[in-house]
Amino acid sequence: MKAIVIGGGGREHALAWKLLQSARVTEVVCIPGNGGTARLPGCRNVAMVPSDIEGIVRCVQVNNMAFVLVGPEQPLADGLADALRAQQVKVFGPGQDGAQIESSKAWAKALMAQANVPTAASAVFTDAEQAIAYVQQQGAPIVVKADGLAAGKGVTVAKEIEDAVAAIHAVFDGQFGAAGKQVVIEEFLSGQEVSVLAVTDGLTIRPLLPAQDHKQIGEGDTGPNTGGMGAYAPTPVMPPDLLARVQTEVLEPTLKGLQARGIDYRGVLYAGLIVMPASETGAVELKVIEFNCRFGDPETQAVLPLLETPLDEIVLACCEQRLENLPPFAWKDAASACVVMAAEGYPGDYEKGLSINGIDAAESAADDTMVFHAGTRLSQGQLKSTGGRVLGITAMAPDFDAALAKAYSAVDKIDFPGSYYRRDIGCRVKG
Ligand code: AMP
Ligand code: GLY
Repeated sequence: MKAIVIGGGGREHALAWKLLQSARVTEVVCIPGNGGTARLPGCRNVAMVPSDIEGIVRCVQVNNMAFVLVGPEQPLADGLADALRAQQVKVFGPGQDGAQIESSKAWAKALMAQANVPTAASAVFTDAEQAIAYVQQQGAPIVVKADGLAAGKGVTVAKEIEDAVAAIHAVFDGQFGAAGKQVVIEEFLSGQEVSVLAVTDGLTIRPLLPAQDHKQIGEGDTGPNTGGMGAYAPTPVMPPDLLARVQTEVLEPTLKGLQARGIDYRGVLYAGLIVMPASETGAVELKVIEFNCRFGDPETQAVLPLLETPLDEIVLACCEQRLENLPPFAWKDAASACVVMAAEGYPGDYEKGLSINGIDAAESAADDTMVFHAGTRLSQGQLKSTGGRVLGITAMAPDFDAALAKAYSAVDKIDFPGSYYRRDIGCRVKG
């Protein structure tokens, strides 16, 4: 069986790698892929853009591809899955209607309110003055979110009213383009953030192992947000009893809310949750802070190595609406951690085209160590950086501390001039 993976980041490298571990999968085509997928045995990069629907359909037909797995949110929000389904192609990823759960925060909020899904209190505004009046009435800290897709940059957690006001102006002054037609103002929640990536065929929904990521660039979770500086799974912040609550309090009602809107959602529903510690009398509280319509990055790089059920089985069961009949997913009894290596200067300005060496040494230093490429290309046999986040060094071990230690010792083997990585991945759960 052959499959297509759309995208070119660390998440897509991990997806292609996992698919190829299945004996049934003979080839993965990545569109466009990266230097890591170019080197992955069984994987082939094709230089097309995700908006080239005709080209992708042709690739499916000519190569007899079993399915298309879409990595990033933008092509889903642009309707790639709809266009492929209209040509009878099996696609893992929701249509434009379902992708609204990520592409419009106001839409997601309305769905959560109707479906009774616990989330931060919020209000939506299409006008700066009214939004500012609301913020002044609510007080700080408060969270300001551009409604649409803003490449992870549309959210401001404002400690002071002035920061919230500035963020509201930035949204309505067009700093986020079309994403800034509306603004969602949200209650600030403090607690641990957990990512639950769930798979669904539109009828049944099942969570993968819960993960945590580190969004901020600086150690101690300080400084500006990034695409993610590291991740680990399963997180002890979400033991099985709490994950069971996520299933009944968040995932199932959200799926029902999608169904009530006539949406046939097949793919990943990613719930970004805040877990608030139990008060003296009450239970731990769970609230949704965002939904995404795709696998998380870098959570996927940490979660997939632990998965024993072949990924193609899960993907096809979702595409063919028979997830209910799959046996429970099997997981390794281990922990996994991913440390992201970034270019110097990221998330500000950084250089591209830097040579990277030592990947083989890093991967062979210990078993269960994988280097997933996020921003690389292979140029005449030499790996070069193409982005800010460049590599995700991932390791599995019987326990969390050992997985982290293994990942960091692999990082030491990589030769990438000026690279930056956080030395404290996992700090929120370490003793
Ligand atoms: P989002 O794009 O919605 O995931 O938001 C980006 C980041 O902002 C999240 O990962 C959180 O760290 C933070 N954030 C979003 N909403 C809230 C909230 N209501 N309270 C506290 N932090 C939040
Ligand atoms: N790790 C955050 C995200 O994928 O949105």
